[in-house]
Order: sequence, then C-alpha cells, then structure tokens
Amino acid sequence: MDRIRIHGQRRLAGEIPVSGAKNAALKLMAASLLTEEPLTLSNMPRLADVRAMGELLRSFGVGVTVSLGGGLGEGDQMRLAACNIQSAFASYDMVRKMRASFQVLAPLLARHGEAKVSLPGGCAIGARPVDLHLKALKALGAQVELADGYVLANAKGGLTGATIEFPFVSVGATETALMAATLAKGETVIENAAREPEIEDLARCLMAMGARIAGLGTSRLVVEGVKQLYGADYAVMHDRIEAGTYAIAAAIAGGEVELIGAKRQSNGALIDLLEKAGARVSDSNRGIAVHMNGARPRAVDCSTAPYPGFPTDLQAQFMALMCVADGSSVIKETIFENRFMHVPELARLGADIKVTGDVAVVRGVEKLRGAPVMATDLRASVSLVLAGLEAEGETIVNRVYHLDRGFDRLEQKLSQAGADIARIGE
Ligand code: EPU
Repeated sequence: MDRIRIHGQRRLAGEIPVSGAKNAALKLMAASLLTEEPLTLSNMPRLADVRAMGELLRSFGVGVTVSLGGGLGEGDQMRLAACNIQSAFASYDMVRKMRASFQVLAPLLARHGEAKVSLPGGCAIGARPVDLHLKALKALGAQVELADGYVLANAKGGLTGATIEFPFVSVGATETALMAATLAKGETVIENAAREPEIEDLARCLMAMGARIAGLGTSRLVVEGVKQLYGADYAVMHDRIEAGTYAIAAAIAGGEVELIGAKRQSNGALIDLLEKAGARVSDSNRGIAVHMNGARPRAVDCSTAPYPGFPTDLQAQFMALMCVADGSSVIKETIFENRFMHVPELARLGADIKVTGDVAVVRGVEKLRGAPVMATDLRASVSLVLAGLEAEGETIVNRVYHLDRGFDRLEQKLSQAGADIARIGE
C-alpha cells in the first residue's frame, strides 16, 4: 500500500490549483438519476470516491463516461446518462465503503418509484444516523421500511410536496429532501435547511436540469415539483475544504501561496481565524493568496458549526496548525461525536493535546518532529500531512487511500508549491 513521505521545514511558494468539490460532485452525480437525459459535469475532481460513485451508478445501468482534464488545474469531465434505470439496489458493501452512496436513495425513489439502499452504519467519525433522510422521504409520501440492514423505499404513485422541518441542520438530509422534492407533486418547503455552499451547487445544477427551487443559500428552500427533469451541462464548484487545507498548509509551513479558484466567501470562518493567527489573506484575480512570514502562528480558539460557521471538515487541519502556535487554544467539535482520531497521531509528532469530551486543548510547541503516522479518515489524514510539512525530519503518512478518496493529486499540488513530499510504494 502506498505511503506519503514528507521532509518538513520547507517554505511554500507559488500556486496551487483548487479542484472541484468532492462533496458537491458526489451529489451532482446522484442527481443524474433524476433524468433520462444526459447530465454532463465539468470541473470534476479526480478522486477515488468519484470513481466509486461512478461504479455504483453503472450498476444501476447509468452510462458513465469520463474525459480526463489536462494539467492539475483542469478538472475532468463526466457524462452521466441514466436513460433506463435497470436496478435500484445499493449494497451494504458499497454504502459501507462510501457513505455518500446513500444519496442515491432520494433520486432513485423520485424517478424510479422504488429503491433498496443499505443503511450506512457508523463510521470513523461518529454514529451518523440517517433518520432525518428517512423522515423527509416519509413526509413526501414514501413508504419506508427497514429490513436486514436495508432501507426499502416505495413511492410508486409518485411523491407529494409537503413541509419538512428539520430539528437540526443536516447537509445530507437537506440534499435528500431537495432531490426528492424536485419531482414531487406540488410544493415542498424545507425548513431549517443546511446552507452549505455544496447544497446551493446541487440546487443550481437541479435548476439547470429544469427544477424550480427558491431560497438558495438560505435555511428555507421552496421547491415547486415538476413532471420531469432534463439533461444539462454543469461545472462543479471549487472545493472549499481543499482550498482551506492548502491555506492552512501555507500558514503552517510559512511562505506565500496563491490558491487558484478559491473563494473568500465560502471560507470566511477559516480566513477569519487564519488572520487572527497571524496569516495575511488577500484576494487575487484568480483566487486568494495566503502569506505567512515565518513567525509562529498565534493560538486561536475554534468551534465547528454548520455553514457559515467553521467547518468540521477543517477541524483536524486547523488543529495541526495550533499544535505549533504560540500559546494554548481550545478546539470544540460540535458536529460529530468522534472526530478527534487525529489527536494521538499528532501526539506522535510531538503535539501536546488533551481531549475532554468534545473539547481539545492544544498547547502549542515550538516544533514538531517527524514520525510514521496513520489516520482513520480523510481529514484526519491530511492534518498529518500538514503537521509533516512543519515537522523536523521525515514524516511517513500511512493509509494513503484515505487521502486519495478526497484530495486530488495532493502530493503533486504540494510539491509544485515547494514542499518535499512524495508518494512511495510499500
Ligand atoms: N445526523 C443525524 N441524522 C441524520 C443525518 C445526520 O443525526 O439523518 C447527524 C450526523 O450524525 C451529524 C450531524 O447530523 O452528527 C450532521 O451531519 P450531516 O448530515 O450534516 O453530514 P453528512 O451529510 O453526513 C456531509 C459531508 C461531511 C461533512 C458533513 C458536515 C458529504 C459526502 N459529507 O456529511 O464530509 O463533514 O456534511 O459538514 O457531503 C468529509 O468530506 O470528510 C466529510 C465527512
């Protein structure tokens, strides 16, 4: 199995292109099931999760063709043609490996009238139930049963618009409700909808396919169901989590990096904290630029929250930065119950972190020291890469497959900006 080897203490300089967003791309791919006409997605990131979703869609009979983009900054193009849905079954094996597979449930149900999709089960970062997804589908008139670890959903007579009020914010459940409502009869109102930019991206793609949606970017989405959706061409939004990760890379390694395609607005909470920590973030005409002059970052507290708050998907990376900050910081994780799996691995690199419940207190040390490490999920893994950029000596990050799930050619992008990082075989 491949590993990533990093020799730390190199300043970063230059540009890093930001790829299309994993967490938008996967849902847009699922949305292709809503129409018999082809959906062509551009700016697609080259990721293991995207390939896995492609395989799942193929198993339903969807024609999936990919044309690879040129350089690092050019996304791939994917054409998805769900003319006939031949199967509406997503196995445990598939959904267990990639939770986003569960997002096929709503579009299969809305267009095909029935679906059998495995319950995802827990994962490395928490229990992650899907009760809100199922409540939303039931509110729209679906019959939903659970049997042998599977969700069996039926709406042969079609779905009917309704008001869905979520008790708390869920990205996935909002997307389920949104996709299902596009083909329901009449109006659906989604109250307390998640406002993550990836949801707006999904809504815009659905609108390009003929859906009628109002309230984009707000916590109240109103969908007027239509009889059918059509093919469209759509460019996936940039990956704000990838952009944020490289912004933190510049802050931890020091230097000056331009993140091509990044947008200040979608990373507001992070930029605010980076500036408090001593980085300078400026707008460039191609994205944003992050400068850190070599001084130690200042310690800043951080608490995760739904958008526009600080994203849980950047918590591990921000913690890596705080490990070398001047002073102590308090990092609170409010979205997932078990998202501190990177802590013992950061400690192997010399970090001083104490976790009590959902709070980590990080006492900054002057330097980290390289070591072999591994992590149990994508964002935790990349936090170890960031720590390795700062650490003295050699850091080896094992289980690279986590990184390949969600970071498009990470080692190439970082080495292009001056990092000493390479992928090595077993
Ligand atoms: N939740 C429930 N019931 C539900 C749905 C969610 O209790 O039916 C809980 C979850 O257990 C969690 C909270 O609600 O405690 C929020 O979960 P949410 O549904 O918002 O998350 P998600 O849709 O499962 C997406 C991203 C995650 C990201 C979260 C939060 C995708 C494929 N995944 O997950 O991304 O952390 O939103 O922003 O879009 C990642 O990319 O590494 C990743 C984990």
